[in-house]
Amino acid sequence: MFHPIPQAIKQRMEYLEELDRQDRIDGTSRMERLRQIPPETGKFLSILAASAPNGEFLEIGTSAGYSTMWIALACQLNSNKLTTFEILKEKAELARETFRITKLENIIELIEGDARDYLSNYHNISFCFLDAEKEVYGECYDLVIPNMVKGGILVADNAINHYETLKPMLDKALADERVDALIVPIGKGELVCRKI
Ligand SMILES: C[S@@+](CC[C@H](N)C(=O)[O-])C[C@H]1O[C@@H](n2cnc3c(N)ncnc32)[C@H](O)[C@@H]1O
Repeated sequence: MFHPIPQAIKQRMEYLEELDRQDRIDGTSRMERLRQIPPETGKFLSILAASAPNGEFLEIGTSAGYSTMWIALACQLNSNKLTTFEILKEKAELARETFRITKLENIIELIEGDARDYLSNYHNISFCFLDAEKEVYGECYDLVIPNMVKGGILVADNAINHYETLKPMLDKALADERVDALIVPIGKGELVCRKI
């Protein structure tokens, strides 16, 4: 997956990394910022996604499609498709541009809207990356876990940098007997759950 990352994907990743860096220092409002995962979390996602069983791959919170590209590297390896949800029109437009430039449109479906309105349509989820507003994590978790295949993997971002806000959902996941779960100190902290 990484040897090498296809040129068009690598260039778009670098472009979005620079936009994200600028966002954080130039006073761009929180809702407008890309708020992307760091590259090491991207690699972590690629490896986990490549190890997931067959089934539906989902991402909740696309932004400009940066994390989507890391998951897509695994999809290219295993001929999987990925569905990603983005609620904001401007971000969805940027993401469409990302998938067009990188020629990933054939494996990625972008749904513009609130992921919570769609999640109950998926019944064989094998991989899900959750990276939306923190207020919706609990609801998304409850919609995804019952519909995951055995061995399916859910990763939720911000488990350390937003620990206090996410604590109810994190505590629930860590005690949930339907999954094996832990928090991995990489990037902003990743909750990783594997469906039993
Ligand atoms: C932290 S950013 C995602 C960053 C992206 N995963 C990355 O690393 O490149 C969160 C995104 O989730 C979107 N979002 C928030 N709540 C959502 C929801 N209920 N459904 C779909 N998208 C949502 C926001 O508009 C924002 O673009």
